[in-house]
Amino acid sequence: MRDLITFDQKDYNPNGKVFKRPSVRAVIARHGDVLLIYSKKYDYYKFPGGGIEAGENHTEALLREVQEESGYRILPDSIREFGRVLRRQKDSYDENGIFEQENFYYFCDVEECAGEVALDDYEAEEGFTAVWIDPLTAMHHNRNVRAADCDHHMIERDSRVLDLVDLELRKRARAEHERATLRALGNPDYAEMLSFVEAQLSATDAENPGAKTDIAYSRFEHTKRVLGWAKRLYDGSDKKETLRYEDVMIATIFHDVGRAVAKSTNLPHAKAGVPITRDYLLSHGFDPERTEYICFLVGSHSDKHLMDDEKLDPNLLFLMEADLLDDMGALGIVMDCMITQTRNPLARFTDCLDHIMRYTHRMQQNNPMISNAGRQLWEEKTRIVNEFTAALQADVEL
Ligand SMILES: [Fe+2]
Ligand SMILES: [Fe+2]
Repeated sequence: MRDLITFDQKDYNPNGKVFKRPSVRAVIARHGDVLLIYSKKYDYYKFPGGGIEAGENHTEALLREVQEESGYRILPDSIREFGRVLRRQKDSYDENGIFEQENFYYFCDVEECAGEVALDDYEAEEGFTAVWIDPLTAMHHNRNVRAADCDHHMIERDSRVLDLVDLELRKRARAEHERATLRALGNPDYAEMLSFVEAQLSATDAENPGAKTDIAYSRFEHTKRVLGWAKRLYDGSDKKETLRYEDVMIATIFHDVGRAVAKSTNLPHAKAGVPITRDYLLSHGFDPERTEYICFLVGSHSDKHLMDDEKLDPNLLFLMEADLLDDMGALGIVMDCMITQTRNPLARFTDCLDHIMRYTHRMQQNNPMISNAGRQLWEEKTRIVNEFTAALQADVEL
């Protein structure tokens, strides 16, 4: 199990006898809230769980502790490792001893409704109550616990874990949203194509500093966002009959795959992506004519100067527009701030504002989109950038 946090008070005799008390803790999430145990007496929250008893394995201890403290029954198949938190401190019962508590945190799900709780004496005395609560609310609450006679190390331990759980739940919600969006694109093969492109770009994306203006910029994340823009462009398009939806979606997935080999082949990335795309599609049963058309889209997507040519292929225009919509708007502003900070660690808010005005704000004012749907999406971004920069200016300048 991976280590999440280590709390070492270093207040003990290092040669002292170690008293170990391994424990299991359950992270049970539902609709963004977590199931915690509230102590009425000391006014704090903790994860359900407790010490592993002799002869028990982790699963057995987890099931027993959660049921005793909260009344909920864990679904055993749902148990997944989260991580280990180690506490080492002077043993409060033995002046020379070391108290070492390994806490094993597991994500799990529980049955819909709770049954009876079975609190032991000290738990009943503290008034333990199971509650569903948002992890950050519980964390901030714990940080303000005033009671002097409770175990603040323990409260801080679970506060830190609550912080990590919040991040983990956000990550999961994003991944779930992404899967739903992918399903809505209508073709189950896109997920496999995206995995292929992700693997191709992994080395380039791990480069630090990244290729794009010195920040950790992931081409694969860009690719997914462009796919999102392509979908929005298509949904808003008044010329759907002129578009080859599936072809342009596939071209979008592969459009920047050439970044993976652009340096080593000495080719512009759009051209470098063509053989990779061709190999993939032919080996996955695409007919040669369709493959070549998709390769044409990939290989030409950088020729943005052709966008206002009336004879431009409508699918190529579509891909170019989707590509350009990314990295602008709100995301462009965040990117400007990241770049400002990377180039000058002592940058002030006014330096960020200057960078935004010189890049995203300036670029946003000239709408390069040709299609009605593209023009509208761009204008919406421009409105947001203009409103934001005006507000930022008012915030940072006298
Ligand atoms: Fe590109
Ligand atoms: Fe791109």
